[in-house]
Amino acid sequence: MSSAANNIWPSWLPIRADIADLSPYGAPQISDLVALNTNENPFELPEVVISQMLQDLPDVLANLNRYPDRDAQALRGALVAYINDQSNLKLDLNNIWAANGSNEILQTIMLACGSVGALGFVPSYSVHPLIAKTTGTNWRSAARNSDFGLGVDGAIAEITETKPGLTFITTPNNPTGTATPLADLAKLAAAALEVNGILIVDEAYQEFSDELSAVTLLKEFPNIVVVRTMSKAFALAGARIGYCLADPMVISALKITRLPYHLSSTTQALGLIALANSDLLLAEVGALITERKRVAGELAKLGFAVIPSSANFLLFSGFSGASAEAWNDFIKRGILIRDVGLLGYLRVTIGKVGENNQFLAAAAELRQ
Ligand SMILES: Cc1ncc(COP(=O)(O)O)c(C=O)c1O
Repeated sequence: MSSAANNIWPSWLPIRADIADLSPYGAPQISDLVALNTNENPFELPEVVISQMLQDLPDVLANLNRYPDRDAQALRGALVAYINDQSNLKLDLNNIWAANGSNEILQTIMLACGSVGALGFVPSYSVHPLIAKTTGTNWRSAARNSDFGLGVDGAIAEITETKPGLTFITTPNNPTGTATPLADLAKLAAAALEVNGILIVDEAYQEFSDELSAVTLLKEFPNIVVVRTMSKAFALAGARIGYCLADPMVISALKITRLPYHLSSTTQALGLIALANSDLLLAEVGALITERKRVAGELAKLGFAVIPSSANFLLFSGFSGASAEAWNDFIKRGILIRDVGLLGYLRVTIGKVGENNQFLAAAAELRQ
């Protein structure tokens, strides 16, 4: 989120005062560069999955005159089956909501439950405070430890003192890659429950982590909302499918703030086929974890400091010059990574082996 220096809006445009100084969120999309900047999965969908999608498409297109299933029941059923299978649970349709990416899920939550205010621990996913701003949710940022771990006792004290309606924990955290242990999430959920608040666990990168998912805490804590996405592990960022697992009362609340027919028939159909092929799509997750470990090792050998990561990206420091300058130096070498606004750090997404090697070759020229 950034502020424009001057009021650029014409007087006839009644833009809301509380968003007038914001700029649209977005990472640069520059073609012809090795794009390692938005934590996408670098692997294209397998041919067999694409051909199943093409087989289903005529039926979907023939019915585009009709609105989609407003509650996306088949897709939600397949998503909850995936979660039950992964975490050995028995959740059902009343425990799941789906939307256009997990960003829309986050917005739906804040629209429904943001009136008491929200708390997050930075550095973390900058879209959380942005959505708070655009939904009129009062946002408070507290600091993580210097090693980017959460510091559970301090976090509990923050919750107890400030009594937020919504507490956000991203694990593995973006942009640091650090994971919060399940036992700490349970303590945070208990603290949030004490102040009548919910704990939103953003698990966009969960499939890349060794930690158990916070969905396993749902039976103990009704106030946990686990937010997930098909954009990363499933390599489906372009289809825009995010979802959340929660107590049925949370899902009922989200149905009030979702837009009618928000999830297109095409999106629902593509998601169903991806989920029917989940073994195939998730097979690449292991390869990305192996590459993450290799790239982290190579960066360390070059003299960079790398934050231990449980996600599909690495945060590192040790390049010469400021972050913005070093980011530009990577661009000059054909590599697009991310300046996340953290002094002395840059973030790189794990790509295919060749892309990672190109990144490492550039990094070798740019170390301190
Ligand atoms: C922590 C986190 N949450 C949510 C998202 C949003 O993902 P999507 O809207 O594609 O599901 C991202 C995307 O990078 C993310 O890093």
